[in-house]
Amino acid sequence: MIITSCGNSELLARKITSKLHAKYSPLTLSSFPDGDLYLQYNTELKNKVVVIVQSFQPHPAQSLFDLIFAGQTAKDLGAKKVILVAPYLAYMRQDKRFHPGECISSRIMARLLSHSFDKIITIDPHLHRYKSLREIFAIPSVKLSANNLLAEYIKKHFHKEVIVGPDGESYQWAEEIAHHINVQATVLKKTRFTSRHVEVKMVLPIPVKGKDVVIVDDIISTGHTIVEAAKTVRKMGARSISAVAVHGLFVEDAIKKLKKAGVGKIITTNSIAGKTALIDISLLLVKELKKEL
Ligand code: R5P
Repeated sequence: MIITSCGNSELLARKITSKLHAKYSPLTLSSFPDGDLYLQYNTELKNKVVVIVQSFQPHPAQSLFDLIFAGQTAKDLGAKKVILVAPYLAYMRQDKRFHPGECISSRIMARLLSHSFDKIITIDPHLHRYKSLREIFAIPSVKLSANNLLAEYIKKHFHKEVIVGPDGESYQWAEEIAHHINVQATVLKKTRFTSRHVEVKMVLPIPVKGKDVVIVDDIISTGHTIVEAAKTVRKMGARSISAVAVHGLFVEDAIKKLKKAGVGKIITTNSIAGKTALIDISLLLVKELKKEL
């Protein structure tokens, strides 16, 4: 098995490689003077299982492009199987035409990757209107979940907490985690006006006064969703507010905004590298990749 990455997830890819006792081979990825992409494998791929580990953040558009070139080149070079491990898979939230003329990005992303890989493995993809990745991918797809890891982290680091999901879609994470650690949970109702303007309200109230509230979501992007959830529980008398999420994108100064809104601890998995990435998902991926050895 040969493992590589297109830049974003190199640390994670190397960690997985050493746990699998496989070979990590860096890709040469650069551009010609005119900006055309240049890509070169630096090891023999013939009849090998090639695994490309790449989260789509930062630079989701470039990542998609790099992966199309990398996947198709590995096939060209005779790899037995080419697997994409995308711990964070972007483009999933645009899963319908919200306004006339819009593209349904998730379908196009899946079609392009299906042409370039033999299999995709991802962690907690944003499945909302699709029930399964099979609805959009033409290749075998594996959806892993970091829920147990998040639950164990919360259990170890918090005490008598309550869990709040900031919107209806977060029930898959918030409610399941609350159930796992046996604490109370509620899911807020979110209205999204634009990418940067959301409003939330608690429609199924639970007592938060004097409690440590842990807001759980799959993605923190601009941070507005968590900020609004934090404001809501603070008004209701929460003692402390923390945020735990699978994928920490943290665009547009999200961390600053969260801190300003009184969110004390911010914890994510290392699906995307960063200071908040305290929950390690490498073993989850190693366990799945062992099936390919
Ligand atoms: C969407 O429903 C997701 O689960 C997240 O709540 C959302 O992507 C967070 O985005 P932002 O941080 O920009 O509010």
